[in-house]
Amino acid sequence: MPILSFSSLFLLLLNLAAPVFSADKFSRNDFPPGFVFGSGISAYQYEGAAFQDGRTPSIWDTFAHSVYSHGNGDIACDGYHKYKDDVQLMLDTGLEAFRFSISWSRLIPNGRGPVNAKGLEYYNNFINELISHGIQPHVTLVHSDVPKALEDEYGGWLSRKIVKDFTAYADVCFREFGNRILHWTTVNEANVFVLCGYDWAMTPPQRCSAPFGIINCTKGNSSSEPYIAAHNILLAHASVARLYQKNYQGMQRGFIGINLFAYQFVPYTNATEDVIATQRANDFWIGWFLKPLVYGDYPDIMKRNAGTRIPAFTKLESKQVKGSFDFLGLNHYYTLYIKDKPSYLKMDNRDVIADMAVEFILQGDTPPDELPMSGQRTQRNTTLNDTSRVKYIHGFIGSLLDAVRNGSNVRGYFTWSFLDLFELLDGYESAYGLYYVDLDDKDLKRYPKLSAHWYASFLKGRSIGLDSATELERNMSTLSQSHFSQ
Ligand SMILES: *[C@@H]1O[C@H](CO)[C@@H](O)[C@H](O)[C@H]1NC(C)=O
Ligand SMILES: *[C@@H]1O[C@H](CO)[C@@H](O)[C@H](O)[C@H]1NC(C)=O
Ligand SMILES: *[C@@H]1O[C@H](CO)[C@@H](O)[C@H](O)[C@H]1NC(C)=O
Ligand SMILES: *[C@@H]1O[C@H](CO)[C@@H](O)[C@H](O)[C@H]1NC(C)=O
Ligand SMILES: *[C@@H]1O[C@H](CO)[C@@H](O)[C@H](O)[C@H]1NC(C)=O
Ligand SMILES: *[C@@H]1O[C@H](CO)[C@@H](O)[C@H](O)[C@H]1NC(C)=O
Ligand SMILES: *[C@@H]1O[C@H](CO)[C@@H](O)[C@H](O)[C@H]1NC(C)=O
Repeated sequence: MPILSFSSLFLLLLNLAAPVFSADKFSRNDFPPGFVFGSGISAYQYEGAAFQDGRTPSIWDTFAHSVYSHGNGDIACDGYHKYKDDVQLMLDTGLEAFRFSISWSRLIPNGRGPVNAKGLEYYNNFINELISHGIQPHVTLVHSDVPKALEDEYGGWLSRKIVKDFTAYADVCFREFGNRILHWTTVNEANVFVLCGYDWAMTPPQRCSAPFGIINCTKGNSSSEPYIAAHNILLAHASVARLYQKNYQGMQRGFIGINLFAYQFVPYTNATEDVIATQRANDFWIGWFLKPLVYGDYPDIMKRNAGTRIPAFTKLESKQVKGSFDFLGLNHYYTLYIKDKPSYLKMDNRDVIADMAVEFILQGDTPPDELPMSGQRTQRNTTLNDTSRVKYIHGFIGSLLDAVRNGSNVRGYFTWSFLDLFELLDGYESAYGLYYVDLDDKDLKRYPKLSAHWYASFLKGRSIGLDSATELERNMSTLSQSHFSQ
């Protein structure tokens, strides 16, 4: 099973290109006009105030309070109360854009019905705070946190009923916030969400069937449910995108898209089988969503290998889904090697990976053609000297610059994450943040890491090479003595 994480870079792109080497020395000004740099968080991982002001639980609350969890987001970074200070930190860092998600069950408790005035007020305040500081808000409608009420009532994404409820929720968001939002993402990491939630049961709603789950499966069907959930996500995404295009886009002039988790897949050997297997892995991993969005149907190889387990689009649905996006957001951070595994297709009971008929191989951290990662996971502790994260972000931005110079239509880059958050798979044990959040401090004080200083320096237009990290680090050790006691 591949190692997964909810991390991320966010690219707006129409043209996928894999950068293979990176510029070492560059500056913010080398990027074309309109290219934005930012960072991000998601609602459940940041806000806290889980039981406050009318919010009801999402499927993440349920999971985070179960035996499988490594902690919960009851308090998280307490962003619900501290967002103003955080926007100030964003300003200090020089962020141009900020990506966050709305908690569906905070805005519309139970997922359907009346709007919660307190939820509305929070998001209005947060958006206004960003805008008044010149930071573009980029909004995601659902970042894994489907309202628990809808999961209980009809099985969340397993039911077509979610299309109507998701569209009604999106309508509220466009109506209330759309005059200030130019970038809407419907669903975060849709592909990984369905695999983790319905094939392997690593994350909520924790459904699976033996032998595919990482738990003892008690509910679900790994052979069919990932395909059903993905189908309903595509239909819901398309319904929301069409609503936006029809009722709002003319006036609000924004863009709508979806977000997928991308690996860079590299053939394990140069044998033809592995090269073909790599293409197949891309078809299953990205083509699963992208082919319907561009051409109105699933990749042929998926239909062939999954048979009747993958739902078919009606003519009308196909037309609705095809072309229902203005941009694609990609979260990326690993390279995986792909080996052909034809024996999987001989199994009668198959999940998505068995249908894919490949084996994933993670080889160290430095594959030959590495696309540097977009956010780096480290152990969460008081070490503010995160030199490895600086190298990582530096490498990634350099590769993006190469891709841009090569003609790739990449429009932005967001580091994951702005603060050390409640991480979906590891709780508070790991961290991706540019800022450390001290959980032992009653005010959850934030401290900039070396990476925050480095990113700020880059965003303020300094020419950046890896040598500047060393210099920054020297500057920072003086800083840490005066500002932080560790
Ligand atoms: C740029 O394009 C050339 C020619 O298509 C390709 O060989 C090269 O790998 C690309 N470089 C990057 C960094 O994408
Ligand atoms: C699954 O069930 C078996 C047998 O009851 C038990 O030994 C094992 O620990 C369980 N595994 C998990 C991950 O719960
Ligand atoms: C899963 O669904 C498929 C297709 O509906 C069915 O053939 C299979 O028996 C189901 N498996 C389980 C474990 O329920
Ligand atoms: C595959 O072929 C390329 C080009 O000939 C070579 O650079 C690379 O090392 C080969 N990879 C493997 C795993 O043999
Ligand atoms: C903190 O985390 C970093 C990165 O994972 C690790 O290298 C370092 O040893 C850790 N320090 C402590 C005090 O645990
Ligand atoms: C920071 O980390 C780097 C590399 O891990 C090390 O060389 C350097 O001495 C550290 N600096 C401080 C101030 O701890
Ligand atoms: C480090 O501090 C010095 C003195 O304040 C400053 O001139 C220099 O630009 C700083 N270096 C970096 C990389 O920010």
